[in-house]
Amino acid sequence: MRRPLIAGNWKMNLDLARGRDLVAGVRAGLGSADVGTQVEVAVCPPTIYLFPIAEALQGSLIRLGAQDLYYEASGAYTGEVSATMVAETGAKYTIIGHSERRHTIGHLEDDRMLNLKLKAAHQAGLAPILCVGETIDERRAEQTLDVLTFQLTAALVGYGVTSPDDLVLAYEPVWAIGTGEVATPEQAQEAHAHLRNRLRELAGPIADEVRILYGGSVKPDNTAAIMKQPDVDGGLIGGASLKPDSFVRIITATLATLG
Ligand code: PGA
Repeated sequence: MRRPLIAGNWKMNLDLARGRDLVAGVRAGLGSADVGTQVEVAVCPPTIYLFPIAEALQGSLIRLGAQDLYYEASGAYTGEVSATMVAETGAKYTIIGHSERRHTIGHLEDDRMLNLKLKAAHQAGLAPILCVGETIDERRAEQTLDVLTFQLTAALVGYGVTSPDDLVLAYEPVWAIGTGEVATPEQAQEAHAHLRNRLRELAGPIADEVRILYGGSVKPDNTAAIMKQPDVDGGLIGGASLKPDSFVRIITATLATLG
């Protein structure tokens, strides 16, 4: 049985004081909820806040994640942060290949770079959350499943998945991110099942233990319907992770789907 992961992607939001308040609010809101054993929870603050947020998380079972890293170990890469540097903060996870980095921010990261980032993260002992997903044009052209196959296959070239922490996938349809438009539970399930089948071809039976998160306008009200899908194993939450109340409600709604 896969333990769901609910990860909050803060993106470039909040300041340090608000980030600390958010963590305190989430901790208080979760109270004795069974975080850790039944549902895993993580927050992914901006890189510069990883250390102080690690401190704010001390004594809790909430995990820390980064939003990105660079694949080189060291060198003349002004402004970049290596996987080892991220790991030093105590982070367990790192997001890799978020659509904003693939499509929006000047970096325009390609699949080859994401493959290198995946390997660097793994080498540093981090669990990568690899984001894949189609644009609205690709969906309209009925290319969704082909795009997912390509992104997954390209990212995993030469990358062995032998334990569930070697890889977390996040299906994030680009058209649903920050738009308020959410994939239907059926659309999510179709994409997730496809990713799991493809991963089974690439990596074998471990695919059944790898978590596939859904991301894109997850809110407290739509959480249950999405999380009930058999191949949805949690969520990558942007906007709704920025307020303790909505993030906690998403976590408790996920817990409730476990019966
Ligand atoms: P959203 O973002 O929940 O604000 O749509 C999700 C994401 O980008 O990971």
